Amino acid sequence: MQWMTIDSMNNSVAIIGGSGFYHWPLLKAVSKTTLSKYANEPLSVELGRIADRPVSFLARHGKNHSIPPHKINYRANIDALSQLGIKHIIAVNAVGGININMAPGSIVIPDQIIDYTWGREHTFFDEFNGELDHIDFTSPLESPFRDRVAQFADNSDAIHCGGTYACVQGPRLETAAEIRKLARDGCDLVGMTMMPEAALAREKGISYMSICLVCNWAAGMSIDKRALVPISIDEMKSVLEEGLTKVQQLLQYTLTSN
Ligand code: HPA
Repeated sequence: MQWMTIDSMNNSVAIIGGSGFYHWPLLKAVSKTTLSKYANEPLSVELGRIADRPVSFLARHGKNHSIPPHKINYRANIDALSQLGIKHIIAVNAVGGININMAPGSIVIPDQIIDYTWGREHTFFDEFNGELDHIDFTSPLESPFRDRVAQFADNSDAIHCGGTYACVQGPRLETAAEIRKLARDGCDLVGMTMMPEAALAREKGISYMSICLVCNWAAGMSIDKRALVPISIDEMKSVLEEGLTKVQQLLQYTLTSN
C-alpha cells in the first residue's frame, strides 16, 4: 500500500505510548472513553491537538501499567482508534538492544518486524465472507512521518533509522541463547508489543511506525562478554525515564515541523 502524503489526507494521528509513557503533558487533551466490540469495558483515549493537528494518545499498558504485553487487547485498541478516524499511528516501544550499535539510551526507528508471538488475537479477518482478506505486509512500518523523524535523526548520533524488531511473547525476558538465535535471524532489537499491533493497523488501513527506545542490552549482549550479566530491571527503568524525554522531543518535532 502506498501511503499518501501527510497533508493530502485526513491527518488524524494517534500516539500509542508503551512502558513508562502513560500520558503526554504537551498534549492538552480531554479524556474520552470509547467502545469497541472487541472489548468488554470502555477504553480510555486522550484527544487533543498539536499545532492544529488532531492528536490522540492511548496508553497501551493502561494508565498505571496494569496490562502485561500478552494480555493487551490489541484488536480493541486498534478498532477504537479506527472508529475515532485515526489515519496514522506513531507507536512508542521499549526494547532490548541486540545490534552492537544500538546501546541502551539509543532511539531506533525500525523498518522490519519478525513475529515470534503466539496465541494473541492477531487479525480482524476472522470470518470468511466470500472474499480473500489478506494484507500486503512486505514493508510493515511505512509511514509518511518517517521522513520527519529522519530529519531529526540527522542531528543525533543516538537515533538510528532502520533495523529489524523481534516481537517476542513475554512477559519474561529472554535467555542468552534465545537472543543469539534472534541475532542469527537478523534481528537488531527485541520487544514484546509491536505485534499484532502493526498488522492490525494495516488491516484497518492505518499507517503505523514505531519509535523504539533501547532500555537495556538484550540478554547476554552486555559489553562484558566474560560473564553473562543479568539484566537489571531498575537500570531499565532509569534508562526508560531519561530516554522518554528525548522520545517526546522527537514526537513534538515530528508533529509540528513542515
Ligand atoms: N526483551 C524483550 N522486551 C524488552 C526488552 C528485552 O530485553 N527490553 C525492553 N523490552
